[in-house]
Amino acid sequence: MKVQRILTALLLVCNITSSLCFLEVFTDAASAVFTFFEQDDLLVFDPKRLEEDLNDFLFGQHIASNVVLKSVSSFMTDSKPNKPLVLSFHGSTGTGKNHVTKILARNIYKTGEESKHVHIYNSEYHFPQRTEIDLYSAQLKQWIHGNVSSFPRSMFIFDEMEEMQSELIDVLKPFLDYSLVDGVSFRNAIFIFLSNAAGKIISDMALDFWRGGKNREDLWMNSKQLETKISTNVYNDPNCGFLHSSIIDHHLIDHFIPFLPLELKHVRQCVLAEMKHLNIKTNYDLADEVVKDMPFFPDEERIFAVKGCKSARQKLVLLAD
Ligand SMILES: Nc1ncnc2c1ncn2[C@@H]1O[C@H](COP(=O)(O)OP(=O)(O)O)[C@@H](O)[C@H]1O
Ligand SMILES: *[C@@H]1O[C@H](CO)[C@@H](O)[C@H](O)[C@H]1NC(C)=O
Repeated sequence: MKVQRILTALLLVCNITSSLCFLEVFTDAASAVFTFFEQDDLLVFDPKRLEEDLNDFLFGQHIASNVVLKSVSSFMTDSKPNKPLVLSFHGSTGTGKNHVTKILARNIYKTGEESKHVHIYNSEYHFPQRTEIDLYSAQLKQWIHGNVSSFPRSMFIFDEMEEMQSELIDVLKPFLDYSLVDGVSFRNAIFIFLSNAAGKIISDMALDFWRGGKNREDLWMNSKQLETKISTNVYNDPNCGFLHSSIIDHHLIDHFIPFLPLELKHVRQCVLAEMKHLNIKTNYDLADEVVKDMPFFPDEERIFAVKGCKSARQKLVLLAD
């Protein structure tokens, strides 16, 4: 074992009777044990397992599923990536953006989203005061730098990116690039941005597809330049912190990934999954009842769930008794 070898080597090179040296051996050993357990939080990455996880637990998101699987698998199995992985998830609320980050976390870290190497930032919670932007910028810079120096395979998730001030987004820029920052390389880190921005154009496109009688699964990243449309839309949205941000300008985001609005059948799958999760016996009639209770749009056709699978569990609990 690594720790043992380091310890023996240290004892060999130094005179154990000197108390100073003993202290040194002790602290070095402690730090070796620490690093050992830190690394221990990483799973051996298995692309097959991620694929199965996405197939079994992510509903109605064939594009996201495909792009996430390919990009994460190639990044995780690359022994020398040249830059960090930077993904931007877009789509309306409840379509599975946070859900996918959890699936990724449990495929990378033994303790999944609970891992202390998974950092989730929410603008409203972490950076609430507009006037404190300088403090937040300094903090964020220090956090990212500190965490990646001590643990290169760190994961940073920024929720509600559209609420984030552009100055704060710009702080991220050097970390997302190929270069070193103060001698630290960020090429093993993963950055994921979540936002509702471009949710409307994604929904409109999915609706167009549906109205044209086309199959949802035939909508792809490159069909109708979906990815380009998302990045342009995000860039031009005046309500969005991405606007003045040089992240998009400098092409630091590897993929803009659309999350499609969910149809009734997908929400029904979510409800059935929640039944399993809550140890409620599978009951298809109950699932239909839960779904029937939820709002869909457009008003006449009722195709897509307004809130996706959000509150599927709460609705289920209400009707289950
Ligand atoms: N496409 C999906 N497949 C499976 N479950 C989903 C999906 N979308 C949402 N959910 C469920 O609904 C909950 C809320 O979704 P979430 O990922 O937080 O939405 P978002 O981050 O897009 O607003 C999740 O915890 C998950 O249980
Ligand atoms: C790592 O980030 C967290 C916030 O996500 C912060 O509290 C902590 O101090 C950071 N660690 C280092 C070593 O900078």
